[in-house]
Amino acid sequence: MIHCFNTTNALVDKLSISFLHYIVSEGSSGRQLNIALSGGKTPKVLFDKIALKQQKTDKPVYWKNIHFFMVDERCVPPDHADSNYGMIHGALLGKIDLPACNIHRIRGEDDPEREAYRYEQEIHEQVPGKKGIPVFDWIFLGTGEDGHTASIFPDRTDLLASANIVEAVEHPVTRQPRITLTGKPIIQAKKITFLVTGESKSLIVRQIINQEPDAAHFPAAYINARRNDTEWYLDTAAAKYL
Ligand code: 6PG
Repeated sequence: MIHCFNTTNALVDKLSISFLHYIVSEGSSGRQLNIALSGGKTPKVLFDKIALKQQKTDKPVYWKNIHFFMVDERCVPPDHADSNYGMIHGALLGKIDLPACNIHRIRGEDDPEREAYRYEQEIHEQVPGKKGIPVFDWIFLGTGEDGHTASIFPDRTDLLASANIVEAVEHPVTRQPRITLTGKPIIQAKKITFLVTGESKSLIVRQIINQEPDAAHFPAAYINARRNDTEWYLDTAAAKYL
């Protein structure tokens, strides 16, 4: 399902409303909801909008049943400019009435291999699984111009079928150490939403959505091809070629 909007603001307005409706309706069931968020630049406007709207909603928001996880993290301290957690906490998690124990961050300041293992154990403890693979309720993803998603880059498509839920990786260009969810927990999520904006992503969006042959090895295309219910929230700039 593709949702296209003339402006980023219109996009995040709609998606934030959908998100809060989901939290209010599903959160009131008493069941723990496990939501994984991506970082990068794009989603900050969404997180800002959710934080703003939840302050205005007249319906109780049962944040106590909502657990937030990181899709991936750069291996830097949480106060570093590159930290996905730092951005997500500043834009959203630090502005809502959420118990600290409901936030499951990746400790970017720790040894990547050891932290990848630790975070995987935490996910197994918190998120119900199917055949050993955790089933998140909702995963928010972005994509790079190279077709990566999470921190699964085109040079590491092995991660898409990894037996591990979480792995320590490196950015292919900067060699920046990262920790990422792998393909199986992403593909198995109940709901997957890609948020992509800007003309710089228009070519990769066309290749992925049209399932063009030379895009098949892109991690974002791999996810999209295996989940025909994937939601795409695009602005008209990113959807230019669709
Ligand atoms: C990250 C993200 C990554 C992101 C894409 C798009 O750690 O960078 O998890 O997968 O979604 O790189 O990033 P932008 O939104 O900055 O373009």
